[in-house]
Amino acid sequence: MSIHYDPTNLAAAMAGSAHGITPDEVEKAAPRAAAALAGFRRSFEEGRYGFPALPFDKPVISSIAGFAKSVAGTFDTVCVVGIGGSAPGAWALDCGLRGPHPVQKAHSAKNPRLVILDNVDPVFIGNALASMNPKRTIVVPIAKSGATAETMATFLIVQAWLKEALGARKALKHIAVVTSESRGDLKQFASANKLPTFHLPDNVGGRFSVLSAVGLLPAALAGFDIKKLCRGAAAMSQLCWSRDLNANMALRSALHHYLVWTLRKKSIQVMFPYSNNLWGVAFWFRQLWAESLGKAKNRKGKTVHVGQTPVAALGATDQHSQVQLYIEGPNDKVFTFLAAGKWPAAGKIPKAKTGYDSFDYLAGQSLAKLIDAERLATAAALTANGRPNCTITVERLDEASLGALLQFFEFQTAFMGELLDIDAFDQEGVELGKRFTFGLMGRAGYETYLEEFRAYEAQRAGVKL
Ligand code: PA5
Repeated sequence: MSIHYDPTNLAAAMAGSAHGITPDEVEKAAPRAAAALAGFRRSFEEGRYGFPALPFDKPVISSIAGFAKSVAGTFDTVCVVGIGGSAPGAWALDCGLRGPHPVQKAHSAKNPRLVILDNVDPVFIGNALASMNPKRTIVVPIAKSGATAETMATFLIVQAWLKEALGARKALKHIAVVTSESRGDLKQFASANKLPTFHLPDNVGGRFSVLSAVGLLPAALAGFDIKKLCRGAAAMSQLCWSRDLNANMALRSALHHYLVWTLRKKSIQVMFPYSNNLWGVAFWFRQLWAESLGKAKNRKGKTVHVGQTPVAALGATDQHSQVQLYIEGPNDKVFTFLAAGKWPAAGKIPKAKTGYDSFDYLAGQSLAKLIDAERLATAAALTANGRPNCTITVERLDEASLGALLQFFEFQTAFMGELLDIDAFDQEGVELGKRFTFGLMGRAGYETYLEEFRAYEAQRAGVKL
């Protein structure tokens, strides 16, 4: 396996007994982990949750790869329109395999770039459209519900932009849709216009969908090898069903995080990649962890208000902006370092001496050695200050390893949901805000929410502070 989990600095023997966890505590909680695994396995076998099966679905993977092959060389831009679980997976893959956008090599039909329209900021959308050529762009609207206001509004604009440049009939040749198989207006729209359409299974939620067409279609269109990606994820899936806690990294890590969170009150998890390529994974993880585990009620209906706040930080950059807080501020955080195992390039520092101390000790070394040293040093400094942390090493930044890493985090999140006895797969908390938005935007059926919103505004008008 190309992913390694090192929990040593979560141990009380390293971070101190007030903040680290003990082997006894882990052993005592092991039956809970076994029950979490069994519970999740049962739900999976009953068909309630589908993400573990995604990387094994060869017909779907082949049809996505086949479609991407059939249009390869036609487009230099893949424009994803989506939000929430429909967007950051594609970004995590693109960032993981080609680096963050500003450092990607020039895009071309051989190396199409990914432009992800995941916000309704009018300036952002205007700038994005101005940066793309409609003749060489394929647009991929992604929405499981087929009804998300941000996605629908942006898609209407992008579609009009395509039509204006290409004419109505040709514009349709520049659209491929990802949506639910069974419902939604986007589905209807795609069928009415005979658009190439890829489906998200009903039992796969947005934030668990990166290995469905939601992540695979943009990835394949960008030229990534989605079969390798899925092979890596499938290998991780198999490990994640193991009952052996030492072999099952995702279960072990979920248990450790559960203990450090509930027994040692670490209510914030900082995901700290020391690799710009893994920065996208940290952002993708933020949504997965927050939306899955932030819940008001447990499965028995008891009010619990659980949730661990995920924060993304980038090493070594954020050593100069966040680490002061992490070392000396409230001891309410657990840290997950993401480390690159083998750097594809060392970044050799020239050997020539300059006569200046601040330069000369670095001469002849490498950036890879420096960034690794900074990560090891930060982990040691956190540990010395009683701040528990763990490290996940990704051996190689390739499709298979990324697939395995993403699947690891999805299983870890599902197991954590089981350990907390909450439903990690719903998101009731976002509904009220959505309904107020529909009311404010005049959607039929949401008049009472508009009234409620007006009452809230009236209440605000009378408040002075
Ligand atoms: O994880 C989820 O289910 C959500 O974050 C959704 O992905 C998000 O609300 C977008 O939904 P949709 O794909 O229907 O546009």
